[in-house]
Amino acid sequence: MGARIIGTGSAVPTTCLTNDDIAKRVDTSDKWIVTRTGIEERRVITQGESVLDLIHEASLKALESSGLSPDKLDAILVATVSGEYAFPSTACLLQARLGIDNVPAFDIAAACAGFVYGLSVAHSYIKSGDYNNILLVGADVLSSMVNWEDRGTCVLFGDGAGAVVLENQPNDQGLLSTVVESSGKAWDLLHVRSGLRQTFDMKNTQDPAWGIQMKGPELFKVAVRALSDVTKKALEKSDLTPADVSLMVPHQANLRIIKAVAERLGTGMERVYCNVQRFGNTSAASIPIALDEALRAGKISEREIIVLNGCGGGLTWGASVVRW
Ligand code: ACO
Repeated sequence: MGARIIGTGSAVPTTCLTNDDIAKRVDTSDKWIVTRTGIEERRVITQGESVLDLIHEASLKALESSGLSPDKLDAILVATVSGEYAFPSTACLLQARLGIDNVPAFDIAAACAGFVYGLSVAHSYIKSGDYNNILLVGADVLSSMVNWEDRGTCVLFGDGAGAVVLENQPNDQGLLSTVVESSGKAWDLLHVRSGLRQTFDMKNTQDPAWGIQMKGPELFKVAVRALSDVTKKALEKSDLTPADVSLMVPHQANLRIIKAVAERLGTGMERVYCNVQRFGNTSAASIPIALDEALRAGKISEREIIVLNGCGGGLTWGASVVRW
């Protein structure tokens, strides 16, 4: 049983915040943000917009490009940590919007690594023979979870959704291997309490300690090591090496992290797809948004080896190897 990605789609909010826009609010500069992160602008939701709107739009585009109608889906998985409800899951809300019933729909919470965790679940479901067509979405609106007065975090995140449709295909194309790992003992490097949300266009009324808490420099080091190691493990599982990789589509956290991982793996930046400059860190959405863009830009050809890898709060990390 092979699990092949047969459609992709993505969606981002229309509101664009540049580094200069943020510099009007906190003590930072375009130069600092670009030098330390590579990010130039990001899309953010405003009051009244929700992650579900983005998820729905990305899903419809992925279904359209797959040629499947929603009633052909056997399962709906949504990787997110910013759904509007604790329950029902965002996946169930998406299911209702798609107008289908009686198939499993559930969320996966692994922060920025959520999409790779979702690939791991979808691959196993399809290999089991129980499910043929799966919609997997990665989506987050972390702009509503940052403290917009905290310059250490508010410059990093943006909002968006990316979706893929996976189908059981009995050939050697599709997901070859996925490795996912976690380290709960490092939970405090990146965390946020559940509860209140506040979009950037609302007046800040919250405690300064509210919002995403992050130990950036420590996280940076763990991310580079974890992403390089897990990518090598996933490639080894498929009897491949970094030399076989045509394109790496990493989680878009920070250009310096991406460059350091590319250097460790020896792929060079020519074989890496990057859009962190335009969207910032969109958490679980970043890999499927980048994948959708890379495909639509003609950067991926049939049978090429593609690596998708990400690391995030938990800590969680993982890598998937795909023969396109
Ligand atoms: N503008 C200006 N100055 C700032 C800003 C800002 N936005 N933010 C922090 N600073 C200051 C700090 O206060 C500090 O000042 P000091 O030297 O006077 O104390 C100085 O800049 C250096 O701060 P560092 O935190 O050491 O800067 P660093 O080079 O490590 O860059 C960054 C910070 C960009 C957060 C980096 O550590 C990083 O990217 N870490 C990974 C974080 C990440 O990606 N998190 C997302 C989720 S996890 C994941 O997706 C992998």
